[in-house]
Amino acid sequence: MKILMVCLGNICRSPLAEGIIKQQVKEAGLDWEIDSAGTGNWHIGEAPDQRSTLEAKTRGVDISQQVCRQFNVQDFDGFDLILVMDKNNRRDVLSLARNQHDRDKVKLLLNDQEVPDPYFNDHYFSPVFDLIEGGCKDIIKKYKD
Ligand code: 4NP
Repeated sequence: MKILMVCLGNICRSPLAEGIIKQQVKEAGLDWEIDSAGTGNWHIGEAPDQRSTLEAKTRGVDISQQVCRQFNVQDFDGFDLILVMDKNNRRDVLSLARNQHDRDKVKLLLNDQEVPDPYFNDHYFSPVFDLIEGGCKDIIKKYKD
């Protein structure tokens, strides 16, 4: 299974999602490929937001070596599943889809809920970590067999 985690900036939520699911994948002994990207281009080449890096570190997940990149149309070929954090991310990713096969790969990480953008609210980082952790756990359960 190849999974791409996507948010707007690729510095707050999707780096957390990448780091968390990579750890869970390792613990489950799975051979999955994980990456993350942003729909926006503002932070290309940057490390994750320090608030995400710190929250992750507090929970035993190291995301400090990740580098921001932008989502591009080739990602539809490189991944089986493209997990977006919110409905705006979904709209932006789907706007690049070439066909139904591409569209079928795009899903909200949390089936019926969005992961809120914590960029403008320091207090969101901890609950956002919890939401993403729960979502990743469900993804592993759903696709591991
Ligand atoms: P993210 O958060 O999508 O979770 O990485 C954001 C990061 C940066 C910006 C917006 C959201 N920004 O506007 O620069």
